[in-house]
Amino acid sequence: MNENEQRIFDSWKINAKSWTRVIHHQQIESRAIATDAAIIKAVKELNPQTFLDVGCGEGWLCRQLFSPGIDGWGVDACADLIEAARLYNDSRFIVCSYSDLRSQKFENILRFSCLICNFSILGQRDLTQIAEAGCHLLEDHGKIIIQTLHPLIACGDAPYEDGWRETSWTGIGNEVFHPAPWYFRTIESWIQEFYGYNYRLLNLQEPCHPITKKPISIIFVFERC
Ligand SMILES: C[S@@+](CC[C@H](N)C(=O)[O-])C[C@H]1O[C@@H](n2cnc3c(N)ncnc32)[C@H](O)[C@@H]1O
Repeated sequence: MNENEQRIFDSWKINAKSWTRVIHHQQIESRAIATDAAIIKAVKELNPQTFLDVGCGEGWLCRQLFSPGIDGWGVDACADLIEAARLYNDSRFIVCSYSDLRSQKFENILRFSCLICNFSILGQRDLTQIAEAGCHLLEDHGKIIIQTLHPLIACGDAPYEDGWRETSWTGIGNEVFHPAPWYFRTIESWIQEFYGYNYRLLNLQEPCHPITKKPISIIFVFERC
């Protein structure tokens, strides 16, 4: 694990309790007005039998998908977040980092209809680890659904090119967050990198702020070829 990856892991350990409170109280405006509904819609449109929520955090998206009867699991490297998720559903959450994903077993499910990464691809090698795990964990023509900050907005004044950036966490509600680096990718890079692992782009959506009409996030749906 390199220094940036270690800082990402450490930051989630520190931020876990604050993050859990912020999500439970729906204190992130962009999530409440656009991105939560957008990822649920993107998943349900595919009519999956099964899902794996990769970097599930405290498990809100799993709960949303369990409730209409979709079978699935959530994984996350942060033990405190998985503990929070298990308060609601003890049996469907596992502590697992992306680097261990390809060999992880999920009881009744051998192959998933889709892997979902909702704002959870943060490090440079995460994409590779998840794309490679998909070859073992996805059924034929299975999908990887990714929601991330929209690159044109997240780029800010920096050059529009791939590279490590520092988070500019501002406090949310009364919570203070420990900063961590994250790896920025252009839209072209997201698509080209998945092509390189034999996935094709099936769909792309750009959820917008309902008033400013600026894109908030981007959702890629990749299909395993
Ligand atoms: C911004 S949170 C998003 C959580 C959740 N998907 C949601 O929508 O609320 C990012 C999550 O990715 C997890 N994560 C980041 N890098 C990881 C890795 N290499 N292996 C496993 N989990 C990781 C963190 O622990 C954290 O829970």
